[in-house]
Amino acid sequence: MDHFEYKNGVLAAEDVPVSEIAEAVGTPFYCYSSATIERHFRVFSEALSDVSATVCFAVKANSNIAVLKIMADMGAGADVVSSGELTRALKAGMPANKIVFSGVGKTRDELAHALSENILQINVESEPELHALNEIAGSMSVIAPVAFRINPDVDAHTHDKISTGRSEDKFGIEWTRIHDVINRASKLPNIEITGLAVHIGSQLTELQPFRDAFIRLRDIVAILRADGHAIPRLDLGGGLGIPYDSAETPSPAEYGKVVSEVLGDVECDLLFEPGRLIVGNAGILVTQIVYVKEGATRRFLILDAAMNDLMRPSLYDAKHDIVPAIEPISGANLERVDVVGPVCETGDTFATEIDLPAAEAGDLLAIRSAGAYGAVMSSTYNSRALIPEVLVKGDKYSIVRERIEPDTLLNYENLPNWDP
Ligand code: LLP
Repeated sequence: MDHFEYKNGVLAAEDVPVSEIAEAVGTPFYCYSSATIERHFRVFSEALSDVSATVCFAVKANSNIAVLKIMADMGAGADVVSSGELTRALKAGMPANKIVFSGVGKTRDELAHALSENILQINVESEPELHALNEIAGSMSVIAPVAFRINPDVDAHTHDKISTGRSEDKFGIEWTRIHDVINRASKLPNIEITGLAVHIGSQLTELQPFRDAFIRLRDIVAILRADGHAIPRLDLGGGLGIPYDSAETPSPAEYGKVVSEVLGDVECDLLFEPGRLIVGNAGILVTQIVYVKEGATRRFLILDAAMNDLMRPSLYDAKHDIVPAIEPISGANLERVDVVGPVCETGDTFATEIDLPAAEAGDLLAIRSAGAYGAVMSSTYNSRALIPEVLVKGDKYSIVRERIEPDTLLNYENLPNWDP
């Protein structure tokens, strides 16, 4: 459930008509609902009330510090994958002792940054990384708290590009080797083994892959404990999907049940790293129709938003619901259209052959479920601006990231002076 609904005939974010924001900030822009973020965070946390759970929001899904602060205020930690994300999480008030650093290629500088901030744990994904971390921790005279991310060889049955738990994927340490790696790690002077981690992919719409990965984890914990390793903590990653185009997805409660069934008596503290589930449906992309164009075989709604603003449809063939900002009257005429951006690529398409109420240039549309992996993945392709992000709370709104104009970016470019 989200808080973008028609009220008095117009689309509102909580109690603010999106057209009012559009008038003030211009289009396109991202619009987030605080109440929706709070609700999703609460529902997810409550679904895990049977186990000892810490929820570390996956900052990569939406790293705006105002969005992070909503969750920080509710007690969330953070899952970060770069120094930049670590800085943001701390700035938003996420406590260091609830921050996990994930990622397959953390640099030495990033590892040192994580250690200097005294974060909860670093999820190591390879032996070369482990040795680098041991060395850096030694040089800083600290002990690095390490969880080992396993690759469980489980297919998440999601889009190929966001599947991370199969043996051919670059992530984690092959589960069959983890025992040896941990035995070796336990001899390193500056490494403390805090547990194991797993994350098999994103936008999962089935529970069975989670169950399979958790069972693998449970079995490995038993083997490691028999060998004298305590394994006090398990990080179960993120990945629970959301309904983009009214598809069925498991509820947080059903997911929580799988966690309890498989890991309820494993006697570990559990960490969770949800991203999309918390913020995905808490954001929309508001855009204006620039032209309606009659093509040879299609009618195109050409928007002022493009693939650089929201990559997901181009990159993953994602289908986001698109709705008009003015509530269609019941029985309104529907027209079959392609909804496209202005960028010079055919891939700059948000929807193909969908039925929308008749629309004209100047009308506002909202692309739904754009709160996760939207603004964070945007670029300035075609020398377009980075668009504003607006946060709504009740009947108020605030611009939480200004539009970054191409002219501003031009200030960072130089013409070379080749003269000696
Ligand atoms: N933990 C780790 C280690 C991850 O790699 C990810 C996502 C998450 C947690 C959060 O997963 P979530 O709960 O959001 O599914 N750009 C893609 C999604 C990439 C996900 C990358 N990793 C998209 O727009 O679908």
